[in-house]
Amino acid sequence: MSLLEKFAAARAKRDALAQQSINPVAVPIERVIDATTAQIAGREVIMAGTNNYLGLTFESECIEAAKDALDEFGTGTTGSRVANGNYTEHEALERDLADFFGYPYSMLFSTGYGANLGTIAALVGPGDCVMLDADAHASLYDACRLSGADVYRFRHNDHADLDKRLRRLGERAQRTLVAIEGLYSILGDYPSLAPFCDVCERHGALLLVDEAHSLGTMGECGRGLAEADGVLDRVDFLVGTFSKSLGATGGFCVSRHEELELFRYTSRPFIFTASPCPSVVASTRAALHLLRTQPERREHLWRSAQRLYDSFRELGLTLGPQPSPVVAVRCPSAEAALEVWQRLLENGVYTNLIVPPASPDGSSLIRCSLSAAHTDAQVDAIRRAMATATAGLTAAA
Ligand SMILES: Cc1ncc(COP(=O)(O)O)c(C=O)c1O
Repeated sequence: MSLLEKFAAARAKRDALAQQSINPVAVPIERVIDATTAQIAGREVIMAGTNNYLGLTFESECIEAAKDALDEFGTGTTGSRVANGNYTEHEALERDLADFFGYPYSMLFSTGYGANLGTIAALVGPGDCVMLDADAHASLYDACRLSGADVYRFRHNDHADLDKRLRRLGERAQRTLVAIEGLYSILGDYPSLAPFCDVCERHGALLLVDEAHSLGTMGECGRGLAEADGVLDRVDFLVGTFSKSLGATGGFCVSRHEELELFRYTSRPFIFTASPCPSVVASTRAALHLLRTQPERREHLWRSAQRLYDSFRELGLTLGPQPSPVVAVRCPSAEAALEVWQRLLENGVYTNLIVPPASPDGSSLIRCSLSAAHTDAQVDAIRRAMATATAGLTAAA
């Protein structure tokens, strides 16, 4: 098969999706009205699939900070941190993050995806091992591939399975990185971190936690699951993104290990890409300040999460295992999920359609994510739309 012929399957998939009135993987958002509403196909809809967990995308402090940075520094850095792209504001955001997490070392990346690539591929290489949670995000898988390390998967959230596999590795366990997430993005579930720390410490492995979805949403001060579980001092590398609770783009790694500083000289995804735009750095600094100082956003978010989870349960829907800002509804098939997704949109609610291979366990799901900016009335409107959209499908789910 030639290089171009192999696209036949992707073309067939694209053409099938294009038959839909709105292609679920290419929804044109015509206007963003505020943090929770947008215009799609000429109609105002509630956005219940954005990862805008704290609702900070339209905060005046963040917008003003970004505008000031645009005026002062221009639209982009046009260079890598190791060349002309190292601005004092990048270093200031790194200090903000180190201070926030209580770690001495901190490094920015241009995306959350790049943060995983840049951290893992700097830490491990051929001859080393990575133990990866089976439901880990694609960026963690891709990072392992880039690193050239040997990759082993353990059962999702199962520290006993990790323990068993590390034991099998023998002495190689000491050259192993264990990579897990805080809040998992599709099912909205999360592990208890202390037993993972115990297992890693017992075998001499290092622990990396990707807090992409838990930064801002978990922990008393919003530092994530490691804070919530009281293990910040036991995690070796904590990775996160600015593209969810902080409402921008970019990523970071913070650590208690001084070696993180040396990644600046060895991490290809850090070195060979342009540094984050000054306006993005400025809005992120402002958003981090709001995340720290406005815990009431997080509290409201969790109240809404519980409200939605309970109301979906009352509808008889099959949900992810734990209430959290991500509420996933299982559907009996990919076709059913597509139908529910479309009906939700027709009823004024945008959600995420998750079908294989994007789903963790081969299932088809509707993923809802909540925002601190959602009102109770909006949460109730999401429930009503879901009741209408799943009518007739519920029994089979
Ligand atoms: C767990 C996890 N890690 C990393 C990323 C990548 O983050 P970004 O989109 O900021 O590159 C995502 C994005 O969805 C994610 O869910």
